[in-house]
Amino acid sequence: MRAHTGLAPVIKPRRGRPLTGSVERLRIHGGFRLTGEVSVSGGKNAALAIIPAALLADSPCTIENLPDIDDVHILMEMLTWLGADAVFEDGVMTIDPRPVNRFDPPYSLTSRMRASYYLVPVLLGRFGRANVPYPGGCDIGSRPIDLTIKALRALGAELDNQHGTLIASAGQMRGSEVFLDFPSVGATINAMLTAVNAPGATTIINAAKEPHVVDVANFLGSMGAYIKGAGTNVIRIRGGRPLSGSTYTIIPDQIETGTLMIAAAATGGDVTIRGAIPTHMESLSVKLLEMGVEVRDMDDVIQIRGGPLRPVNIKTQVYPGFPTDLQQPTTAMLSLVRGTSVVTETIFESRYRYIEELQRMGANIRVMDRTAMVEGVTRLTGAPVMASDLRAGAALIIAGLIAEGTTEIQGTQYIDRGYEHIEVKLRGLGARMERVNVPLGYNG
Ligand code: UD1
Repeated sequence: MRAHTGLAPVIKPRRGRPLTGSVERLRIHGGFRLTGEVSVSGGKNAALAIIPAALLADSPCTIENLPDIDDVHILMEMLTWLGADAVFEDGVMTIDPRPVNRFDPPYSLTSRMRASYYLVPVLLGRFGRANVPYPGGCDIGSRPIDLTIKALRALGAELDNQHGTLIASAGQMRGSEVFLDFPSVGATINAMLTAVNAPGATTIINAAKEPHVVDVANFLGSMGAYIKGAGTNVIRIRGGRPLSGSTYTIIPDQIETGTLMIAAAATGGDVTIRGAIPTHMESLSVKLLEMGVEVRDMDDVIQIRGGPLRPVNIKTQVYPGFPTDLQQPTTAMLSLVRGTSVVTETIFESRYRYIEELQRMGANIRVMDRTAMVEGVTRLTGAPVMASDLRAGAALIIAGLIAEGTTEIQGTQYIDRGYEHIEVKLRGLGARMERVNVPLGYNG
């Protein structure tokens, strides 16, 4: 494969109009060890639930440590569209929910992220009505919302699908037992956001235990909600209390922390990650230790020192198991680890689309159903590649960092949804990485 360096001339089509416009890429010159210190940003998945939850308050909220990522900006646009006064500066968003006067966010905004469906319980709580188009989000397999619908119905909401929009009305909302067939993050958060407004006692059984579920519960608690047991599989809520604005600091991003740990380990680096919560990272730390990586933690610091790596087997599970969101970057790392690693994805069925891109870089990976057999190769070679979703983008960044030559990743819009200034952070650790605009028709 031709190693790609520098700009090649624009090729003009022989017939028709000349190509115009450009496309953004992340260009990575691979093969450099990462060293130094880096700080983790606030948690994306916590932010995407906590920002809409602020609309449940009867006075302004201040949310601190928010990541400066596209999803946060889009969500703020949704809130503003609904009438809220929201200002986002230096990682802090103030939201005054009092002027909110609409319950029908437009498809042009909601289609841009899965988390838009957190507006359903919030607007129901506020207006007793919500018209929210079915959510969008990363295309990583079937992402039904049946568990959310079941949970909301159990709490008395009436829901109907009309032309792709979820039409919800409060009906006779009351506390109840909500049993989730699967500990879905989204359904657990939606059940909590509904139950705080449903008078009486609610018990959510088989709840998700992910750190961002706990963060949302803590935020609701800071507004005055009675909510106990988040972080276990049974959450108890007494609904109907008035909720008032609060100041709340979001937890650090578990997946960004993990991506940085993997980047450090994959490059044989020596990196200190600050502002993390090490206990959230245990499933990854254990695997890295098994691979021969030195992992040390103290308070909010995680130190990673890489070396020769051994293959491992990974199976994604709900928290505290290995997170599905770290499956892709881990697989990219394993593609250059001598021996056979087996990766099993149990949460989302289509989370292997990025593997074709890794194969173009020289990886030897075979996918059978939900299992990827990774035979470590001795070298990956840089190539132009396409990120098909957020964490696929993270995988390609890891691959680019350890490949020989230059990798150019297209699909930066996915990466920017969830990683705050990723190229700046990695450059601070010694990566050779830049954001470039290449003209359409560019031969590379
Ligand atoms: C959240 C995260 C995402 C992460 C995922 C799993 C956000 C914004 N996104 O997504 O980054 O990868 O958790 O940790 O927080 N399911 C159903 N019916 C439902 C809901 C889910 O069958 O009503 C299934 C899904 O198809 C999937 C599994 O449950 O197979 C997990 O989904 P869920 O935990 O709900 O993930 P999300 O909340 O969508």
